[in-house]
Amino acid sequence: MDNTEKTLILIKPDAVKNSQIGKILEMYEKNNFNILAMKMIWMNEKLAAKHYEEHIGKEFYTRLVDFMTSGRLVAAVLQGEDIINRVRKLHGCTDPSKAEAGTIRQLFATDKTHNVVHASDCPETANKEIHIFFSEAEIFDN
Ligand code: TYD
Ligand code: MG
Repeated sequence: MDNTEKTLILIKPDAVKNSQIGKILEMYEKNNFNILAMKMIWMNEKLAAKHYEEHIGKEFYTRLVDFMTSGRLVAAVLQGEDIINRVRKLHGCTDPSKAEAGTIRQLFATDKTHNVVHASDCPETANKEIHIFFSEAEIFDN
């Protein structure tokens, strides 16, 4: 059993503006996701490009970056067994109109761009994304 798997989550500017930080964190805690690190930041275009490197050039990229740089957001590192998949399942589909009932995006998101949360999609991206936002010293062991 690997309890040490980590993932990066972002609570995006729409959720911060709509006072949904607490509700989202509560859902992580109710699922026993271990929060190892957390901070509030305001992304600039350079940071957004680093984080969303794989999407540069896509049709929605400018829309995505405009949104992600529009206000402050919460970044956190979560840890647990199979955490990458479990967090993405709790978040639901990228497009909230297709997200399963009870998922964070189904409950709180507006559309495919304004979709309240981000989560890493595999161990390699998790490792990359965690270190964009956090130094090792900022991540607690447990
Ligand atoms: P993606 O990695 O496909 O989704 P996810 O966040 O579920 O891993 O896309 C990254 C973000 O890009 C997505 O959360 C919101 C934005 N986006 C759009 O604005 N329009 C789109 O059509 C897609 C696919 C994504
Ligand atoms: Mg993604």
